[in-house]
This record gives sequence, structure tokens and C-alpha cells, in this order.
Amino acid sequence: MSFTVAIDGPAASGKGTISRALAARFGMRHLDTGLLYRAVGARVDAGEEAIAAARTLTPEDLARDDLRGPAAASAASRVAVIPEVRAALLDFQRSFARAPEGAVLDGRDICTVICPDAEVKLYVTAAPEIRAERRYAELVARGMDVTREGVLKDVLARDARDMGRADAPLVAAPDATVLDTSEMGIEEAVAAAVDLVARARGG
Ligand code: CDP
Ligand code: CDP
Repeated sequence: MSFTVAIDGPAASGKGTISRALAARFGMRHLDTGLLYRAVGARVDAGEEAIAAARTLTPEDLARDDLRGPAAASAASRVAVIPEVRAALLDFQRSFARAPEGAVLDGRDICTVICPDAEVKLYVTAAPEIRAERRYAELVARGMDVTREGVLKDVLARDARDMGRADAPLVAAPDATVLDTSEMGIEEAVAAAVDLVARARGG
């Protein structure tokens, strides 16, 4: 029987770090669903049509090394408003969620649309200025040429687009546990999520 942990939240809230830690701790598979949208966005930036790109996404597309930066994030959020793009990515995400060893999926619509029956639902958030600061530090550490103001502007613009779109907007599912990591270090945030999953698994 499969066991699914669904995690949503805005940019740089810590959902990826928490998801990776949960997957390692419980031996489950992890899918960063943002990567799918980033890969479609990258193909569109290279001149392809968005819906066709989403329908023909390959493992090689997901392995590109240019998907981590702010340009790819922005391109992702622009293709993510297209309902046919979202529809093309649905089956892959749902079948991933049924992995026999259990699965953690993180994104924007996992609790609300992709896995509404997930055993654990989490909405990870933090104040925008704190998220922008974390993302800034992360991009600088990766050697990217970014400014604090630019990263905050990008994060706010992406939040607004993700929360404001008509199809599968970012919203905390009514039955999701909200984890505000504004005042939490990463260890504390991970410990809270581990506790939630351990209880749902009955141990
Ligand atoms: O996946 P998402 O964009 O939500 O965020 P992430 O990549 O997990 O976290 C963004 C950055 O914030 C990473 O460098 C994390 O280590 C850091 N972070 C943090 O400093 N404190 C937290 N409570 C959560 C994340
Ligand atoms: O790590 P971060 O939260 O900054 O971004 P991401 O998870 O890689 O997602 C990039 C963009 O893809 C988001 O801003 C959304 O527009 C889109 N996305 C989505 O619409 N639905 C998902 N399940 C995941 C990502």
C-alpha cells in the first residue's frame, strides 16, 4: 500500500529541504514537482510551444543544469498558468505518488489537486522577506550574480502569479498542517515534519 506526503508552499519556504529530509528518513521517493515546470519553461525559452513541451518532457529535460536559477523559476511560473501544461504533467505526478515505498511530492498544488487523498498534507510557509533572504544566500553560494532587492522582487512576483492564477492556484488546503518556518531553523522545521509523518505512519 502506498503512503503519500504532499507538501505545498511558496518560493523558498523550505519545502524542498523538508521533503528531501523526509524521504531520506522514511525511505520514500521524492519528487520536486517545480522541476517539471522549470523544465517546460526552459524549453519554451528555447523557442518551443509550451503545451507541446509539457507533453513530451523527458528525463534529460529534468537533468539540465540551468534549471535552478531565477530565470528558470520565472519561466516556470509563466508556463504554470496554462491549464493544458498542468494537465500534461498530472499523470506522471500521480503515478509517482503511488510508489510502493511511499512518496513525498512538493510543489504548489500537491495537497489540493495532485494528491488530495495524501496521508500527510503540509503547507510550509515563511514571511516573504525571510524567504527572499534564504533564496538570496542560496544563489550567492552557488556563485550566481544576484542582488537582495532583485531576489525579493522575483519572489514576490512569483508568489503573486502562483496565488492569483485561475487553475490550481497556490493556497493552503483546508486540511493541511501549516508550518510557518519564519522563526525556525531548518533542523526544527524538519523535526516538526518528521513528527507529523511518524504519527501518521503509526510509529
Ligand atoms: O523548496 P523551497 O523553494 O520551498 O525551499 P528550499 O530550497 O528547501 O529552501 C530555500 C533555502 O532556505 C535553502 O538554502 C534552505 O537551506 C534555507 N532554509 C533555511 O535557512 N531555514 C529554513 N527553516 C528552511 C530553509
Ligand atoms: O523552489 P521554488 O519554490 O522557488 O520553485 P519551484 O518549486 O521549483 O517552482 C517553480 C514554479 O513552478 C513555481 O513558482 C510555480 O509557478 C510552478 N509550480 C507549479 O505551478 N506547481 C507545482 N506543483 C510546482 C511548481
